[in-house]
Amino acid sequence: MRDAQPESIYLKDYQAPHFVIEETHLRFDLFEDYAQVDSRLVMRRNREQHENVEAPLVLVGKQLELLAIAIDGVRLSDDEYLLEDELLTIHKVSDSFELEISNRIEPQNNTALEGLYKSGGMFCTQCEAEGFRRITYYLDRPDVMSIFTTEVIADKAKYPILLSNGNAIAQGDLENGRHSVSWHDPHRKPCYLFALVAGDLMVKEGSFMTMNGRKVELKIFVEPQNIDKTEYAMDALKRSMKWDEDKYGREYDLDIFMIVAVDDFNMGAMENKGLNIFNSSCVLANPQTATDASYLRIEAIVAHEYFHNWSGNRVTCRDWFQLSLKEGFTVYRDSQFTADMNSAAVKRIEDASIMRTVQFAEDAGPMAHPVQPDSFMEIANFYTVTIYEKGSEIVGMIHKLLGAKGFRKGSDLYFERHDGQAVTINEFVSAMEDANGTSLTQFKRWYKSAGTPVVNVESYYDSAAKTYTLTFNQSCDEPFLIPIELGLIGRNGQDINAELAAGLINKRDAYKKGIFQLTEKEQVLVFTDVKEEPVPSLLRDFSAPIKLNYDYSRDQLMFLMQHDSDGFNRWDAGQNLALDVIYEVMQQFSDGTQPKVDGRLITAYFSVLKRDDIDHAMLAKMLLLPSVSYIGETQDVIDILAINQARSYVQSVLAEALAEKLAELYKKLNVQQSYLPEPEQMAQRGLKNAALSYLLKTDHKKYCDLAVTQFENSDNMTDSMAALASMVNSGYKAQAESALESFYDKWQAEPLVVNQWLAVQAGSAEYGTIENINKLLEHEAFDIKNPNKVRSVIGAFAGQSLINFHALDGSGYQLLADKIILLNQLNPQIASRLVSPLSKWRRYVDSQAQQMKQQLQRIMAQNNLSKDVYEVVSKSLI
Ligand code: ARG
Ligand code: ZN
Repeated sequence: MRDAQPESIYLKDYQAPHFVIEETHLRFDLFEDYAQVDSRLVMRRNREQHENVEAPLVLVGKQLELLAIAIDGVRLSDDEYLLEDELLTIHKVSDSFELEISNRIEPQNNTALEGLYKSGGMFCTQCEAEGFRRITYYLDRPDVMSIFTTEVIADKAKYPILLSNGNAIAQGDLENGRHSVSWHDPHRKPCYLFALVAGDLMVKEGSFMTMNGRKVELKIFVEPQNIDKTEYAMDALKRSMKWDEDKYGREYDLDIFMIVAVDDFNMGAMENKGLNIFNSSCVLANPQTATDASYLRIEAIVAHEYFHNWSGNRVTCRDWFQLSLKEGFTVYRDSQFTADMNSAAVKRIEDASIMRTVQFAEDAGPMAHPVQPDSFMEIANFYTVTIYEKGSEIVGMIHKLLGAKGFRKGSDLYFERHDGQAVTINEFVSAMEDANGTSLTQFKRWYKSAGTPVVNVESYYDSAAKTYTLTFNQSCDEPFLIPIELGLIGRNGQDINAELAAGLINKRDAYKKGIFQLTEKEQVLVFTDVKEEPVPSLLRDFSAPIKLNYDYSRDQLMFLMQHDSDGFNRWDAGQNLALDVIYEVMQQFSDGTQPKVDGRLITAYFSVLKRDDIDHAMLAKMLLLPSVSYIGETQDVIDILAINQARSYVQSVLAEALAEKLAELYKKLNVQQSYLPEPEQMAQRGLKNAALSYLLKTDHKKYCDLAVTQFENSDNMTDSMAALASMVNSGYKAQAESALESFYDKWQAEPLVVNQWLAVQAGSAEYGTIENINKLLEHEAFDIKNPNKVRSVIGAFAGQSLINFHALDGSGYQLLADKIILLNQLNPQIASRLVSPLSKWRRYVDSQAQQMKQQLQRIMAQNNLSKDVYEVVSKSLI
């Protein structure tokens, strides 16, 4: 237990700050055993919002050694301030004054990776959300915006590169081999966007001409050995800058934009003004070391952080309850970008899959929260799929409701109205409403309530009256406004252009351009003049983050797979068909009868393979069975072992039945070409490797030979990794073993490649056993202090090696809890994220649920639980 229970912070308690910080002048003196931070803050009382209040000045600071405080040049005596816990209270201040503070910190001992810390040989920062308070005493809240000037001083030989936000304004050499660089950021910003970097770095340079003809210098800083892995990120950055101009009319606003790659980073990347800091895994790539999947992730994250310059930095959040204001909108923007650069339907499938497996699970678990939460203990716990991805889905629904033009009008108004401000989600929605002269009052419910709405749909065809009726029922008594994109498909496979019955047509414009706005608990759509019974295609494009139930027959699903004009629903029909068959096989196993896979599933996959009008990327998606996690998510009580048994059985039956076709496909796609990370080639490799992984699920060793050959001859990481993974995930032990060994020999000097090597083992059924996980944790390549390594081994084990993590003896749960307890002290954010698989214990079959719960109780009984871990574990046990 903790000494004191952390308190919850509530949105309803929000108060405007009592002080304004006009200017922030920082000076960092960096040494190996400490850093000295001197700040000079030009401050005044916030009379606009607190007219007659004489509140004391209360600053926050965490793990700081305070050296001195002065106001207007006069040093404060001990009785003029109070330092307790994380608060520094200065009793008496006037209406405007300059505050000077000196303090020391120990970046070299900062394993939480928040504030100023060392990663390898460099200094770097992570301030969002509340890391700045680990640097100096400040008003560490996003609605306090200031002009920053920063001087960085360090040893010149060790740290030749010294960076901060904005433009470099001065530099010079000092005594003792030290040097100094000063930076000035002309844009007001909250301190969570502050950044500093010092290191021995090489730079990749580029430039971008903005739409108004301003030239922006682009720089990517990396450790010298990584300079050959910067080209793709540079290209992606230029594409992002152009896209934001074209699609949103947003131009970059400084003369320089910098990215720095660091190895130790809690998240993916951070949008600090003019100085983005990236997890090296989200920026570094070359064909030999990075897979296509990494390239796609890099493109998306470079875009995401760049887009934050407007959605996040120019217009920021008033408080952390508004986190989705910037994250939901920016995720939506980066998903539009990815859809434009690659296959839009495939991007939609991937986003919907994350929603349905990860976000729906969060919504059904103990940490469920609205996109705009109303309380939290530790804000770091709220960087979630709900805030990010569900937040993005909500913005996407606004886009669907307003149309592309209306949405753009709304975003233009939002940026124009709030440029330079810290605002709320409500203000974003108001801009959308005002620009379109419409009301989104009912719609706003999406932001305020946790949980996944369920919509049940029934149909009735009246052959005499030639009417077709769809009845929609939503689960929530206080109904949501749910945009449901739909179509009716006739026997010939074409969409029917059906008219609504007269009485319904004008009803709140309920059905327009294929989008039905469900606004009531129960609503009926009657289509007239429907000549034959159609097959309904519902929730096209995954138009809302809901669970939609309609009782399709297997034949109807096969029909949709063939004919639906909507790519997402074509894929989803295949998933639903496979799900239905897997459920049936699960039932047969549990009844003890001989399992039998419905031949229609095989027929359906055959016809998918035969089609040449589906692009490779889409085809690869359609060949994949629903994941074990997704299947689990559709069940009331999750039995991972039973799901896995049935899914594997269906997979091997499919593999045997399709083997010849798949081998043909593999051969056709396995062409010699020089590697390019562009959509067409990626799709081709994706499909080829999907075929390969199926082939290794058969008993024919000749297919394993294909994998061995591919592994040995490939000149790119995508094909090497896919071949390795296909062996690791099948029964070909000897081949897998020797491939793993030679892979490590070859790549041990490349940490990002080694991380993939760790993850492919830790996440597999064969190699992710407790025994092997313990070996990996002992391996020279592992480091508990590096979040990427933790994710590669412990994260992959608990998230992907599901049959081992859920082993009946509870050893998987125990291993995870041990690591959470260890990390709780070192890095609370990472520890807390690892709790997630255990936190959902109530969903599992009883014997497993009880063992998971016991491990949570064991964690709860520890001394010195961090706020982060305490919040998740205690909420899981309520
Ligand atoms: N704002 C960043 C992004 O989404 C992530 C912030 C990292 N936060 C953290 N607690 N480490 O782009
Ligand atoms: Zn973000």
